[in-house]
Amino acid sequence: MRITCIIIVTLMILPWFSCTTTPESVPLAFISSVDPHSYSRPDEVSVYHIDLFLSVDFEKKSLYGLARIHYNIHKPGAALILDIGKGLEIEAIKDDSALEAVYRFGEEDDILGRSLEIEIEEHSGFVEVHYHTNQDAAALQWLAPEQTHGKNMPFLFTQSQAILARTWIPLQDSPSVRFTYDARIVVPGGMLALMSAQNPVQKNESGEYFFQMKQSIPSYLMALAVGDLTFKELGESTGVYAEPGMLEKAVYEFAETEKMLQVASGLYGDYAWDRYDILLLPPSFPFGGMENPRLTFVTPTILAGDRSLTSLVAHELAHAWSGNLVTNATWNDFWLNEGFTVYFEYRIIEALYGYDYAEMLASISMQDLLDEIEILTSSGQLEKSSLKGQWDGLDPDEGVSPIAYDKGYFFLLRLEALAGREAFDGFLKKYFADHAFLSIDTEYFIEYARRNLSIEWSDDFIDNWVYGQGLPDDIPVVSSNRFNAVDRELKNWLTGKKPNELETENWTSHEWQHFLRQMPDSIDAKDMRQLDEVYAFSESENAEVFFLWAMQAVKANYKIAFGPIETFLMQTGRRKFVLPLFREMKKHQHTAGLAEILYHKARPNYHYVTANAVDALFVIGS
Ligand code: BES
Ligand code: ZN
Repeated sequence: MRITCIIIVTLMILPWFSCTTTPESVPLAFISSVDPHSYSRPDEVSVYHIDLFLSVDFEKKSLYGLARIHYNIHKPGAALILDIGKGLEIEAIKDDSALEAVYRFGEEDDILGRSLEIEIEEHSGFVEVHYHTNQDAAALQWLAPEQTHGKNMPFLFTQSQAILARTWIPLQDSPSVRFTYDARIVVPGGMLALMSAQNPVQKNESGEYFFQMKQSIPSYLMALAVGDLTFKELGESTGVYAEPGMLEKAVYEFAETEKMLQVASGLYGDYAWDRYDILLLPPSFPFGGMENPRLTFVTPTILAGDRSLTSLVAHELAHAWSGNLVTNATWNDFWLNEGFTVYFEYRIIEALYGYDYAEMLASISMQDLLDEIEILTSSGQLEKSSLKGQWDGLDPDEGVSPIAYDKGYFFLLRLEALAGREAFDGFLKKYFADHAFLSIDTEYFIEYARRNLSIEWSDDFIDNWVYGQGLPDDIPVVSSNRFNAVDRELKNWLTGKKPNELETENWTSHEWQHFLRQMPDSIDAKDMRQLDEVYAFSESENAEVFFLWAMQAVKANYKIAFGPIETFLMQTGRRKFVLPLFREMKKHQHTAGLAEILYHKARPNYHYVTANAVDALFVIGS
């Protein structure tokens, strides 16, 4: 049965559920192989709705309650298989007649956790999984009051992508499965709970909150945050949640969100999620942003005070189409989420702020991509440079690299160049409409594109871009006039012009980022000090600028910056900054010891995904 399905799917590009037996089932995914990162078998029994009843216990650092899992049967006699991650402890499982269900666990795998196989009746229905989480639940970060801005209430947030939803909810943790959800969450009085769903705008005394997500979503978009949070509207359909002391700063920074939403809808079709709100998290949030539907989670490190880092909001907003509406079916197809989103992000930026701004972002993408190819080449891992990922047996987190984001972006830019912008925009609009609320894989996308985008397709072209390693010969050339001007000033400085004589008047933080990235390794602590005296980089409030400065300071052993670097690493848990900084510190004799001491101190402040990545640099526990 399964093999037949796969053949039908790959040859005829039909949804897998067309091979199934229940007539009411609708296509959910176009996928030509099983998801290697989930034990579930949605082709046999699939989850379509979850009712979540959870209490949040800050003292025990535990969520406890139950998940009522509603399923459809496609293969009579098959079991319902859920993914259970580390840190999730099952107490009881009941069927829809409140009787104890028969269930068994599979063997535990370090990355995937274990399978939970539940025997079910021959008709579709639900099971209730009673459970609690413990301190190993990797999606959850429990913050003490001192780790928040207000310092008077604790804070909890989740990060489910890629395969951590299974550590706080028992579910089919595959992006090829979609479900709706309702939730009742109970929190201590005086705190507000928020989810990737219809949200409250103010606290209530009882601490009991109800949520509804009516559109079907994949599991990695399940999200919860609890804290001392307040809300302010930004526009008719947009708003921001933050701790009281951060709210006004966030409102200023994100003031253009409503405009972004309008531009995005104008480009690729109506926004499908009703509201678009932003939640500003404490600084330990491990990512820049996370596109939880209706409620993007963002790091406070994008609050530069001048709105210069808000392209990240455009990025997370774009995911409302690429990712949340049309979803990668497996993590090997991650570029379908991120490559499309980067393309879409730059189009929003271009429409709002002009071509030269978008050009700077594209140049940064190219630089990131070239750097990554160099790293993969020199470490003999070039097989990790193909757009179609091969993360079977590995943590899909490894796929979060410039390959999916930037090589994906350049592939789409190449298609745009071949088709012409107008035709390509029409294609993308139709692509989102045709696959709304579906998950698709790379093979399906290629087939669809070949049928709907009239350019000269060839197998070689696909092989080079999608399956091949390194960079294709026809990769688009990007250049930025504004960055060219920066390059000239950098050269002037390197050939003797004084820092205060450089022409930097109109530079935005992007020009400074470029300047710092292009600085040669040969510059020493004395050069750094001269620059610092004029531009005060060591005190920069712009996290992107400070991070690049800090990288140079480590290389050049510029000790004046070490104090601020320590403060930064103690507070900020964003992996994109923390991991390279520690890596660089470890690399140099003059900072290796400091890195050990600092990591020991800072690690308790980090979310699992950051700590897990940085641990690999250190020998933890020995
Ligand atoms: N969805 C990603 C974050 C992610 C990817 C989390 C994979 C876990 C696994 C999000 O949309 C993202 O790409 N964030 C970027 C920002 C962006 C502007 C490139 C980040 O966090 O830096
Ligand atoms: Zn993204």
